Amino acid sequence: MTGIIVYHSAHHQNTAKVADAMAQVAGCQAVRAGEIDPGELTKYEVAGFGSGIYFGRHHRILLRWVEQCPALPAQVFIFSTSGRGTGGKNHRALREMIRRRGCRVRGEFACKGYDTFGPLKLFGGIHRGKPDHGDIRRAREFAMRMNADLPPEP
Ligand SMILES: Cc1cc2nc3c(=O)[nH]c(=O)nc-3n(C[C@H](O)[C@H](O)[C@H](O)COP(=O)(O)O)c2cc1C
Repeated sequence: MTGIIVYHSAHHQNTAKVADAMAQVAGCQAVRAGEIDPGELTKYEVAGFGSGIYFGRHHRILLRWVEQCPALPAQVFIFSTSGRGTGGKNHRALREMIRRRGCRVRGEFACKGYDTFGPLKLFGGIHRGKPDHGDIRRAREFAMRMNADLPPEP
């Protein structure tokens, strides 16, 4: 099974930390959306997509990248970091985009990330130090589950 993680991390590299931790345990590459052509995704059988949450959805750079993929792998998982630290509605735009393409979202992961958006900056931001060790451990466990659930190779 060949896998890849594609992410965008713009604010504090919060999602980059999660993506790297996941890639390490899954034994795959984590690449920034700007560093890989959407056409290359056809080479992979499973893909993880993640970014920070911006105005209630994944970053537009990641959403646009996914939209431009000529084909998505049948198996996809999604993840994010955000001020709220929740998936749910924040994942809806990306989740729906993937489902519309006929793919299954096999799992979702979300955690809090350091956030200094707007007036938060005046107070030193919120969730300094996030994602922390606990979040990274949960991200690794999630990635292992995503790996373990894969159907065996023929
Ligand atoms: C312009 C902007 C908009 C944001 N919008 C939201 C939001 O709607 N909901 C939320 O929970 N966090 C929001 N955040 C916080 C980020 O999602 C959070 O800091 C995230 O961990 C950033 O990830 P990154 O460092 O990988 O880009 C926003 C941050 C910025 C800078």
